[in-house]
Amino acid sequence: MPKKASFIVTPWEVKGEVDYEKLIREFGTTGITDDLIDRLAKHTGDIHPLLRRKVFFSHRDLDWILDKYEAGEKFFLYTGRGPSGHTHLGHLVPWFFTQWLQEKFGAELYFQMTDDEKFLHNPGLTLKDTVGYTYENALDIIACGFDPEKTFIFSDIEYSKTLYQIAVKVAKHITFSTVKAVFGFENSTNIGMAFFPAIQAVPCFLPSVLKGRNIPCLIPAAIDQDPYWRGVARAIAPKLGFYKPAQIHSKFIPGLGKGGKMSASEPETAIFTVDTPKTAHDKIMNSFTGGRATVQEQREKGGTPDICPVYHYYTVFLKDDKEVEEVYRRCKSGDLLCGEDKLRLSEVVKNFLKEHQRKREEAKKVLEKFMLRD
Ligand code: TRP
Repeated sequence: MPKKASFIVTPWEVKGEVDYEKLIREFGTTGITDDLIDRLAKHTGDIHPLLRRKVFFSHRDLDWILDKYEAGEKFFLYTGRGPSGHTHLGHLVPWFFTQWLQEKFGAELYFQMTDDEKFLHNPGLTLKDTVGYTYENALDIIACGFDPEKTFIFSDIEYSKTLYQIAVKVAKHITFSTVKAVFGFENSTNIGMAFFPAIQAVPCFLPSVLKGRNIPCLIPAAIDQDPYWRGVARAIAPKLGFYKPAQIHSKFIPGLGKGGKMSASEPETAIFTVDTPKTAHDKIMNSFTGGRATVQEQREKGGTPDICPVYHYYTVFLKDDKEVEEVYRRCKSGDLLCGEDKLRLSEVVKNFLKEHQRKREEAKKVLEKFMLRD
C-alpha cells in the first residue's frame, strides 16, 4: 500500500485529494487543450468561465461532436441528477455550464432524474422520497434558465415505459462480470443496482429512438460518472447501431470541510439551494480554509488558496477573472485574512441564493412544461 494519501472516485463515492491528471490517465479520457477551447469558441463566441478556469477539464470525442456540428449534424445534450436530497451549490455548477451549451448550440437537453438509482442505493430512502426529490430538484434545474421548448426532464420511475424498452436492449449486451469490474459490485449488491447501469445508458440513445434517426449525444457531467459511459454506453452503442456518446467532464466542487466534494451526506459542509441566508452564512463562516494557524503566521507566509474551498467558490461564483485573481494574490501575500474572505463570500453566496430562490418559486408554475411523459 502506498503511504501517500490517495483518493477514490466512483459514481457513489469521492474521497481524498483528487489528482485530476492521474484520473485522466486512469479513465483513459483526454484533457481539454487550449486549441480545443479555441475551436469551441468559434461557435460560442465567448468562453465560459468554467472552461477557462479548467473546471471542465477532460472529454471524450468532443472534437468529433464539433466535426459533426460543423458538417451540419446537430447534437443533443444529456445530463442527470440522482435525487437523494435537496440540491446543493456543487450540483448547480455543471448545470450552469450545460445551460450555456444549450444556448450557444441551440441544443435539446434530456435530463434524467435517477430516482430508481437513489432508492436502490440508499437504505434509508423510500421511493416516495426519491420521486419527491425529483420534483424538488427539477425546480433548481429550471431555475438555471434552460429553454422550456428544448428541455426534457424525466423521472426514471415515471417515464419507465419508454425507458425500459430501450434498457432491456442495452442490458442484453452487458454481463455481470462487466458491471462488477466497472462499478465494483459484489455478490451482496442488490440486483437492482446491477441492472441500473442499463437505465443510465438509455438517454444516450433516447432522442435517436424517439426521432427515428441517429443523433450525436454530448454529456456534460462530473467525472465520477465516467464509468457509465466508458463501461456501458460507449461499449454497447455500436452493437445497437447508435453513435457512441461524447462527454465533457468537470472536476468536483469541494465541500466547506477539508478535502472531498460537497456532499449532501455532510450537510454542515454543503450549502443547499433551500438554505436560508443565515444558514448559508453560518456554514461559510465555519468553513475550513487554506489559512494559517495564527494571524501573524498568515501575514508572514500568506494563505494557501489552492487548497481552500472559500477561494474555490470565488472561481465558480465570480464572473470577472480580475476579481478572482485579486483574491488569489491578496490571500497568497498574507494581505487578505480568512475572516474577511469568508464574509465577502457569504455576501456573494447570499445574493446568489436570493436570486436563485426567486427563480425556483417561478419554476413551480412551469414545471409541467419541462416534464417528459409517456
Ligand atoms: N447517476 C447520477 C447521480 O447519481 C445521475 C445521472 C444520470 C447523471 N444520468 C446522468 C449525471 C448523466 C450526469 C450525466 O448523480
